[in-house]
Formats: sequence, C-alpha cells, structure tokens
Amino acid sequence: MSLRLRGDPKHTLRSGMHTMRDRTLSLTSTLSDDDVHGQFDSIMGPLVWDMGHIANFEEFWLLRELGGRRAHDAARDAMYNPFDNPRWVRGDLPLLDREEATEYLNEVRHDVDALLRRTDIVDGPELARGGFVFEMTIQHEAQHQETILQALNLRSDLAPYALAVARHRPLARPVDDTERSHVEGGEFTMGTDDRAATYDNERPAHQVHVDTFRIDRFPVTNRRYVRFVEAGGYARREFWSTAGWLWRTGVDYDAPQGWHRDALGGWTQLMFGALRTLDPAEPVIHISFWEAEAFARFEGGRLPTEAEWERAARFDPAGRGPRKFPWGSAPPTSAHANLGQHGWGPAPVGSYPLGASACGVEQLLGDTYEWTTSRFLPYPGYSTFPYPEYSEVFFGDEEFRVLRGASWATAPAVARATFRNWDYRKRRQIFAGVRLAWDAA
Ligand code: AVJ
Ligand code: FE
Repeated sequence: MSLRLRGDPKHTLRSGMHTMRDRTLSLTSTLSDDDVHGQFDSIMGPLVWDMGHIANFEEFWLLRELGGRRAHDAARDAMYNPFDNPRWVRGDLPLLDREEATEYLNEVRHDVDALLRRTDIVDGPELARGGFVFEMTIQHEAQHQETILQALNLRSDLAPYALAVARHRPLARPVDDTERSHVEGGEFTMGTDDRAATYDNERPAHQVHVDTFRIDRFPVTNRRYVRFVEAGGYARREFWSTAGWLWRTGVDYDAPQGWHRDALGGWTQLMFGALRTLDPAEPVIHISFWEAEAFARFEGGRLPTEAEWERAARFDPAGRGPRKFPWGSAPPTSAHANLGQHGWGPAPVGSYPLGASACGVEQLLGDTYEWTTSRFLPYPGYSTFPYPEYSEVFFGDEEFRVLRGASWATAPAVARATFRNWDYRKRRQIFAGVRLAWDAA
C-alpha cells in the first residue's frame, strides 16, 4: 500500500508542493516584521512581495488557467505582476502584510489540493499532462526562495540569520583546484524533449557541435580568485573587456560581494548577517559576469559557452544518450551535490566525487551557478509553453548572459543539467561563480 502510494505521481506532486511551501514559510519564520516587510535595497523587493507573488502565480496557473476559476482580485494581480512592478517600486506598493500573504498562500493551496485530486494528469488538459503545471508551480516557488535568500544575503545590517547558523559541511577530499578535464569535441544532443518537469527554454533536444576543449574540474575557488584580487585585478584595465571596464569604473567594488579585509590582511565574507573566514577551498560566489570575465583573462582562460558546459555535464561515453544529471539519471541526493539550502554557501571543492560527470568534472550542480558567455536565445524549434513571460520576452537581450548549473540555495526540483538560468551581467547578489574553459592545446 505505502509502496503504491509512493509511486503515485499525484502523491509525489502533492508532497513536492508541500515540502516547498514549508520551506518558503520557514525562510521568513525567524525574521522580524520589519525584515519581512521592508525594502532594504532597490535591487531586491521586500520578501513579502515574493510571498504574495508566489500565491498569485499559483492561483493564476492552477486555480484559473487549469481549474477554470473566474473570480479574482484585479488589484492583487496588478500588484504581483513583476513586469508592471519592477523591484525598486515594490516597497511602495500596498502589499499584503506577512499574515495576509500567508493566508493568501494557504487559501490558494487549500483549493489546489482539491484541484489536484480531480485533475487527470495523464490524459487531461495539456497544461496538466505529466503533472507539468504543478511542477512549474513548484519550480517557480523554488526560484523565488532563491530571490528571498539573495535579498537577505545582500543586507549588511541583518542580525545573524538563524537558519544559516548550522551549515551542513560535507567531508572534502584534498584536491588540486587547478586541475582541468579534457572534453572530447563532436556532435551531441543539447536540450531535452521532456515536457513534464522542464521549462520551455530547455526544449527541444537538438544537435550541436563543439570543438574539443578543456574545462576546470572544479568551480573557481576563493583561493584562485584572491590571487586576482591581490594582483590588483580590479584596478588593472588589461583584464577587463571594454564593457566590463565601463561597469567596473561605475562601481566601487574591489572584491566579490560580501568580502572584507580583516586586520591581519586576510579575508572574511559576510553572509546572512555573519562574518566568516573566507575558505580558500570554497567556490567563489557573488561575482558579476564582468568579474568572471576579467578573472578569466587574468588566468589566461575563458568562460565556457553553454553548449560546452552542457557537453561537459551530460556526455555519456557509453552512448546511452545525454545524461539528465552529470552523474547519470538518479535524482540528486546529498552525496551528489550541495543543493537545497543546507550548506548556506558553497562547499569546498572535492566534496562531491560522486557527483562527477563522465568527463570527470565535479560540482556542476550545486554550490554556485556558473556564468557562461552565451546570450539567452531560443533553441532551434523552440515553442513557448505555457507563457511568453517566462523566457520568450527575454530572448536576445544583450544585457543577459546564461548561467548554468545550480547553487547551494537551489531546490533539487530545479537542478538538472539542461536547466538554463539567465541574468543581467552586472548582478552580484545572485548565487553565481564561474568555471573556466580553455581551447584544446
Ligand atoms: C530565471 C531566475 C531569471 O527570477 O527573474 C521567477 C525566474 N521567472 N518568476 C527570475 C522566475 C518567473 C527568473 N530567472
Ligand atoms: Fe515569479
């Protein structure tokens, strides 16, 4: 009986939705009302906006688009529309307070539970096929958890965040953080045709070619990045592209977000209201695309394209087709990757040998997203499903670059080797680092 229940796809969706919701609510549970309601930086909205937006998105996609419900509150729809309300204005909106937003979340979810019970996810409407729109809602909520955490982590005045105090630290084996893996070039299948648990921008599967290249076996570590900082990298024009230097001279940064020099000349890192000694073995995090690019020039390497990243992550030498995860087809566990908001930061390189790809590349999922050189474009044969505002309206914008992988804050439900993230090149508050590539010698 319990075995049958566990294999029931509706049971999996229901528990996936509830686990995600518990997490969303626990992220704000230890915070003061001011912490939840306030807008502390114009580049991030108040946390309570994300809470209301998560409820509004679920109401729209599940109760209305799938369930056919008509009744809605137009003012709420307007307030939680991210396009009409850019981040810098969200603090001025008459938002639901945390109690009201929680009630909104609960009310919607109550009706969604009933909707899931009566929805045919096998032969029913296309939106629900294979559980798609429920999966989409789960993944949407997960992405907003990352937004909430970015906003909290950006605050220099935050009282140490209770959840971040106990960090899960895996046992790292000692490794050489400059090791590179050889990746054989060739024609391969990029993207996926899985329609149940992916976004439209990952589809369709299509053939691409990459030349043979080498790639960092591990994400770039703080140790390597400190060398760049201490070589005066932020002041040396020769490491920066023209556009990168324009960005650099417009800001007063001389190190990644959160880095501070201590009295002895070492480095500390402010994360979630607490200062930590910078761990040289951890992947560098909180750098913009421009900093990643300048660092690459400093080391004589380059950023990979997203096709190269995907080749390094998915290649299966046994010819069984591209892998869903670097290590194969098994869903991520704590032995594979630092995901799911347990680590409260990246884990030292060498922590996840079981997460290695067939090319020997490690920590591709978890720890940090990784900047690539690729612009965010549709794959050949792309078709929007179910709405253009997820991906389509962002395609081709020169300001964005694709990020690959997943971060320590990413839910396992979102982590896969076909997932494409994208963001403004100047953003540092996102959980992003870099891994370098080199042309084959
Ligand atoms: C894919 C991370 C760029 O947060 O703006 C959330 C994800 N889309 N709600 C974002 C998203 C709709 C999106 N990113
Ligand atoms: Fe959203």
